[in-house]
Amino acid sequence: AFEVVAEQSGISVMVGENQTIVEALEAAGIKVDVSCEQGVCGTCLCDVLEGTPDHKDKFLNEEEREDNDQIILCCSRSKSSKLVLDI
Ligand code: FES
Repeated sequence: AFEVVAEQSGISVMVGENQTIVEALEAAGIKVDVSCEQGVCGTCLCDVLEGTPDHKDKFLNEEEREDNDQIILCCSRSKSSKLVLDI
């Protein structure tokens, strides 16, 4: 599990092994726009303010992945124990 802080909303949630970041945020009342939910379309793209995403999507290119300042919320996870998102 890892912690996700929704900076704009001022809310912090734990994301368990069996849920996505989108699901954890929604459980805390933060609605994330999604479409494909498979990491392809880019609808759920979000800026990362702190932490290192574990990219599982097929949307970002290699360079964008390495920058670690954006994340696809429907399927990616975190390499750091905490991710701070601009949401
Ligand atoms: Fe399509 Fe996340 S909803 S990439």
